[in-house]
Amino acid sequence: MIDEGRPRETYTHGHGEFMARVLSRRTAPVDAGFLLPHLRPGAAVLDCGCGPGSITVGLAEAVAPGRTVGIDLSNGHFPAALALAVERGADNVIFQVADVYELPFDDGSFDAVFANGLLLHLSKPENALRELRRVLRPSGIVGIRDLDWGSWLMAPTTPRLQEFRALLQQVMTSNGASLEYARHQRALLLQAGFARTEVSVTASCHVGGTYRNTAVATEQWAET
Ligand SMILES: C[S@@+](CC[C@H](N)C(=O)[O-])C[C@H]1O[C@@H](n2cnc3c(N)ncnc32)[C@H](O)[C@@H]1O
Repeated sequence: MIDEGRPRETYTHGHGEFMARVLSRRTAPVDAGFLLPHLRPGAAVLDCGCGPGSITVGLAEAVAPGRTVGIDLSNGHFPAALALAVERGADNVIFQVADVYELPFDDGSFDAVFANGLLLHLSKPENALRELRRVLRPSGIVGIRDLDWGSWLMAPTTPRLQEFRALLQQVMTSNGASLEYARHQRALLLQAGFARTEVSVTASCHVGGTYRNTAVATEQWAET
């Protein structure tokens, strides 16, 4: 089979003000709550596809004085990320442009690697997982969180909302997104060489402009 190099993809949502506002509501306790208990002060953390960095800064606070690096393919959200880091006094975090498929870090550079809402935008999430594992120390931990398209429910719905959803699905798919990969995360993690997996599910509620996560289930461990 011919290796055609980096997949051709386009990040659908862009980096405008609206997306910055939506993403900036995310926080480490809510959106990385499953990873925080595994982080210790002094740990080195990488946040991939960090966007406006509102989760990244929370991770940096959890591991201070350890270093945290937020990487993103675009620097579009970095002004907001830097402003937040300054506002919160997080001087152990930096942001840099990088591609999750080819991270500019040596093997074994980090104790923990995190990615929220990134892998579903990729056509080869399994390649990204292998790259995340490469930059992790042997006893390191990876935290991955993504929407699975099949879990998206709307109520009440209207023909226009249904049309919007179908169109968004079509555009994201043609841009290379893997909208139903998340249901296979555990298998992909094991294929990428991770030894143990823990699975949990959160329900995100968007009601009247507010956004809330509720943990609904489940944890399972697989030893290999
Ligand atoms: C939906 S946003 C999530 C931002 C942040 N993780 C959060 O949850 O608030 C996805 C981010 O991934 C970035 N991205 C897309 N493809 C990428 C790639 N190949 N490498 C690194 N970042 C990428 C986008 O630029 C965007 O900022």
